[in-house]
Amino acid sequence: MSIRKIELMCFRNHHNAMFEFTSGLNILWGENGSGKTAIIEAIHLLSIGRSFRTNRRKDLLQYGQDSFKINGTFLVDKKTDVIRLNQVSDGKRKMFVNDVPIEGLKEIVGKHPVVLLSPEEQTITKGGPQDRRQYFDKMFSVVSPEYLEKLVTFQRVLKQRNAALQLCRENRAGVSEIETWEEPLAVAAASVWKMRKSMIAGFSTCCKKAVHNYGETDAFLEVGYESKNPGAISEILNALKNQRRKDIINSNTETGPHRDRYSFVLNGKDIRSFASQGEHKLALVLIKLAELYYVKERQGAAPVFLLDDLLAKLDFKRGQKVLSLLEKTAQTIVTTTDIVQVKNRRGNLSAKEHTSIHLEKKCKV
Ligand SMILES: Nc1ncnc2c1ncn2[C@@H]1O[C@H](COP(=O)(O)OP(=O)(O)OP(=O)(O)O)[C@@H](O)[C@H]1O
Ligand SMILES: [Mg+2]
Repeated sequence: MSIRKIELMCFRNHHNAMFEFTSGLNILWGENGSGKTAIIEAIHLLSIGRSFRTNRRKDLLQYGQDSFKINGTFLVDKKTDVIRLNQVSDGKRKMFVNDVPIEGLKEIVGKHPVVLLSPEEQTITKGGPQDRRQYFDKMFSVVSPEYLEKLVTFQRVLKQRNAALQLCRENRAGVSEIETWEEPLAVAAASVWKMRKSMIAGFSTCCKKAVHNYGETDAFLEVGYESKNPGAISEILNALKNQRRKDIINSNTETGPHRDRYSFVLNGKDIRSFASQGEHKLALVLIKLAELYYVKERQGAAPVFLLDDLLAKLDFKRGQKVLSLLEKTAQTIVTTTDIVQVKNRRGNLSAKEHTSIHLEKKCKV
């Protein structure tokens, strides 16, 4: 899988721009503020329908404009897919796959997968439990439409039970209103938990492979997973019933996969609590390589690897190592302010297809 071309109209600082990519290594270089991350962001948007920098769609509109467009051409098994995204400032957005409008994100998630290694992603090791839950949910949704569907169902029913809890607390509804949602909630929770368990096992194997391929012979990276899963559907139902009174007080459901906790453990130590800056960076690189292997294994084709700000993440030796591993595995798009340093890192890599694209910052006069 690869992206061949992207066109940006009134997106961030790009007024009207087109970039073409090769199947190998692509280096986007230019000074700070020239729009490198914006290109990575646009590719990510076409892949999963979301930005990794903002939840406010309006932020993406070029200042003073009332709409933006992104068109991307992807190559999947020698077949070309054109994904278009049109957004107008009042929030309405339209996406098309080969000119057919899509109904929901589930129609695009996982079709043109990307793996993003960027400074923003460091929250995976540094952030709270919610950041890691989101990370795993996103990755699992990319490799399994069934997981995405189950997760969406679970989240919808959870919202409904929580709303009923709130109504009950305010004496605007009876307990039966809460009860209505418990059976469907228990069923949805059980299926999310079941899928998570096997997917975490698959991802953990890929972590081992990443550590091995990266040559970190003394490193040992594991995924920690804590879950208060009561077990069978009947047991989940019991737990929901038993805690109902407490849940009403909090207007929140205590039991469910939304309370699972993931952690990353490097050499026996929880990274979030104990790792040094360098270890955080190393762990993120290993996690992202593992994600690449995992998505590739599940999808049968390698995702596009987006590496934003190479120098911020990797010292010289590690940069070289990562680029050489990626060259063997996936189409890679790297951004940097320093082309010389990246070319040096490419140094002894084989002369497979590569290209460099220079971005110039428009001067305001
Ligand atoms: N909605 C917007 N409209 C116009 N310009 C914007 C918008 N959002 C951000 N910008 C500007 O676009 C420019 C490019 O931002 P971007 O983050 O892509 O730069 P970059 O090349 O990645 O820089 P760096 O090397 O510092 O990471 C910045 O000057 C930023 O202020
Ligand atoms: Mg940037």
